[in-house]
Amino acid sequence: MGREDAVGTIFRLHFFCSIGIARTSVVRGRHLSIGCLHWMAKTVTITPSTMTADSKEIIVSVVIAAVGILLWYLKNEYGEKRTKLSNGQVLVRPARLPFLGAAWGLSPDNFIEVFAEFYRKYGDLVEIYLGPQRVIVITDVEICKEVLNLRPKIFRRTRSFEYPAQQLGYDHSLFFSNGNQWNMARRLTAPSFNKENVANQIENIWDMAQRWAENIKATSSGSVIDFRFVALEFTLGVITKIVCGVDRDRQQDSYFNKPLFVKDFQLTFTFFMESIMFPISKFFWRLSPWHYGKYEVPAVEGDQRFIQACSELIDEHKKKIFAQTSVSDSAAANTTLLGTMLKKAERDQISDNDVVSNAKLFFLAGSETTSIGICFAMYYLALHPDIRDKVREESDRFAALMQDYSQQSTSDDAEGTAKKSSTDLYEMVFTQLPWSEAVFKECIRLQPPASFLAITLESETSSYTLSNGLTIGPKDELSILLENALHCSDDNYDDAALFKPERWLDPDPAKRQKAELNFVAFGGGPRVCPGMKLAMIEGILAVTALVQHLDWTLACDPSEIKRVLLFSSTPNKMPLRITGRVNK
Ligand code: HEM
Repeated sequence: MGREDAVGTIFRLHFFCSIGIARTSVVRGRHLSIGCLHWMAKTVTITPSTMTADSKEIIVSVVIAAVGILLWYLKNEYGEKRTKLSNGQVLVRPARLPFLGAAWGLSPDNFIEVFAEFYRKYGDLVEIYLGPQRVIVITDVEICKEVLNLRPKIFRRTRSFEYPAQQLGYDHSLFFSNGNQWNMARRLTAPSFNKENVANQIENIWDMAQRWAENIKATSSGSVIDFRFVALEFTLGVITKIVCGVDRDRQQDSYFNKPLFVKDFQLTFTFFMESIMFPISKFFWRLSPWHYGKYEVPAVEGDQRFIQACSELIDEHKKKIFAQTSVSDSAAANTTLLGTMLKKAERDQISDNDVVSNAKLFFLAGSETTSIGICFAMYYLALHPDIRDKVREESDRFAALMQDYSQQSTSDDAEGTAKKSSTDLYEMVFTQLPWSEAVFKECIRLQPPASFLAITLESETSSYTLSNGLTIGPKDELSILLENALHCSDDNYDDAALFKPERWLDPDPAKRQKAELNFVAFGGGPRVCPGMKLAMIEGILAVTALVQHLDWTLACDPSEIKRVLLFSSTPNKMPLRITGRVNK
């Protein structure tokens, strides 16, 4: 074949390719195909022998081919795509921007709304891209549960937590560990949250809730306060007391009582969020003054202070538990979560580092989440005074019962009468405060503090196919939206979008059971929130004490309250005008 023959063959190949591609292009091929046909008519007579390799025509051919290929590629890669799975469900991939996908414009402020929109627009299985990262957004109840139950063997928490968790020493803690490390952490921490240990804390929590509500009444009456910080003060106080036995509001000189502690704690959240939202290589992260200098360095410094304070408490606790000091000292240390973990760690030869890592985690996982639930209880009760009256009735009765209980405790020795056990007290909270419980539960159903879970495959090399036929690749991420389908779908709850605490008190047991079955504010499967009993007790007692002592109104339009992502899904503000209770 001579040179001209070869050029002619290439020429024709280009030519037919461009026609074929143009046909399937995004502009439905019409315009390009017409152009190509016209061009073909002009050139079809060219044969290798007559051809002069007109470079102009070759360039036109190449440009048409390139445009055709580009349009075909854009349509297939970036246009909306629907894939039918083996069980008939449809996985929708919405149209997306090249390179950025859905990441464009996504920020902690609009994250929850953007993800909720995927569910509303495309249904409960959506495939999106955040840059090159494939993310499957799952809101289908059954598939959510299937994935959560397949942990820790098949699935694990997202790897994007690894870097900040390592930098701040959380990598051995329950929430951030995976595989065998997670098994060990769960064994270490689980006893801290059993019913008996939580029941032992009820008197303390009630006492703290009373002091807290009275203090708000004394200091804020008549003024507008942002309740987010007030609620966080309470939950941090409870965690500090039950993790390490320190009363934040009474021990003035403790690190845990200083504003610096709350600041250090918030730096941790911000570093986690920034690191997750900007998944750039850690090499570039460390070079970037906006990221490394602004978020990581201050968070690590704050963490050092936190570790120092925790280590001092651990030393104190160890002395009390193991060094044969007074029985009352030892008993006090035994009832803290730190004490429970230290004893378990001693038996199982677990290092102090692991104990500190988990103690720190309890502050992180257990304070903001519960405070969000309390904030929303204030929000909804401000909008529903009829429900607040119901809570108030039971709160007055409960306060009287608690007074009897503590009097009984102090007079026990003298009279020799049997004191109610702490587990009786636990039952009493749920039987005497059904409306407070229903309100708190309804708040975390409608506004779940942990609104989504980021999960990925444990294996970094092989894929896994779920029961609906959806194949998850080793590099894919799953975003389990706990709230949308589970909490906002009318299939699962009647009037799902409305605040109706009475649904939890429905006289029909089948309806109550259905509501419970779909309630996943605390996650599910083997990694379900271990702090849920504690969180429920805290939330119920806080709501009860607030209603018992205060009246309040919302000091802004209800629609101004949105949720933003700060590790948990937290309200952007919660301005309340507080007054002392009027009709006491
Ligand atoms: C209203 C309050 C709370 C909510 C809504 C909440 C919600 C959650 C959720 C959704 C998870 C993830 C579960 C999963 O992966 O399936 C979780 C995990 C966890 N929570 Fe909570 N939580 C709350 C309070 C607490 C409290 C008070 C503590 C302890 C002090 C706590 C400690 C933890 C820990 C340690 C984990 C990790 C469990 C694991 O990975 O095995 N949480 N929580």
